[in-house]
Amino acid sequence: MEKYDLLTLEFAKGLAQDMGKIIKSNINSLNWTKTKSGFYDIVTNVDVEIERMVKNSVLSAFPNDSVLGEETGTTKAFAPDKRLWIVDPIDGTTNFSKGIPHSCISIAVVEKNEPQIAVVYDPFINELFEATRGHGAKMNGNEIHVSNISELEHCIVNTGYQYSAEKMREKVLKDYEAFFGRVRAVRIFGSAVLDQCYVAAGRIDAFWEYSLKPWDVAAGSLIAKEAGAVVSGIGEEFSIYSNSILVTNSALISKITKILTNA
Ligand code: IPD
Ligand code: CA
Ligand code: CA
Repeated sequence: MEKYDLLTLEFAKGLAQDMGKIIKSNINSLNWTKTKSGFYDIVTNVDVEIERMVKNSVLSAFPNDSVLGEETGTTKAFAPDKRLWIVDPIDGTTNFSKGIPHSCISIAVVEKNEPQIAVVYDPFINELFEATRGHGAKMNGNEIHVSNISELEHCIVNTGYQYSAEKMREKVLKDYEAFFGRVRAVRIFGSAVLDQCYVAAGRIDAFWEYSLKPWDVAAGSLIAKEAGAVVSGIGEEFSIYSNSILVTNSALISKITKILTNA
């Protein structure tokens, strides 16, 4: 790995762990929670504070880079030839706001729309996922790999739905129903980023969701790919800007795509 990438990776890991400590220590003492675009779409003071601190740290260490965060947008006009850090300060805010310890911070470094470095930290169980393009994925320093399960009946699959799901209601329910009784379990854990990392670690066998944003998929998709997952769109090509994501292993991809595209 280039020295330059290693430096960036180590910086991102340190930052994610420092921010994770703050997230964890604030889970039961929020100053405020506000709704964004509906009663279900919320933000807390911790989301905003973490994003501000991440932006400040990144820009003082790497002044030529830009940062895109969920809560405050981009720091600079988009420069396609520059590095873009994509940050979700807390993925799993709904869990977090109710004291449910299942959420993470997600940081990706993207060049020409392709994630190059990814770090995801779950402070509640102290799990740090990391990947650098072409160099594999790790969790707490140990290599991780997707599961090798190939039979649907042995699978645990995972999904989620956007807060603006009203327009997607029928599709979301049809997908859920299509898997019901065909797989061992369907889960909705509430952190799309951790869902992708859990596929990477072989804990679950597939994850899909629609209408996610770049900060929900930039880091998780690289970690999953580097752990051997197939990352695709559903009926479309995947990019960090696409409308759908399916993450699974190579033995399941066609079976799961078939279910999702026919449901
Ligand atoms: C949400 C979570 C959730 C997913 C939603 C996302 P947030 O992100 O990842 O699991 O189903 O679509 O918006 O708002 O907690 O950062
Ligand atoms: Ca998110
Ligand atoms: Ca978030």
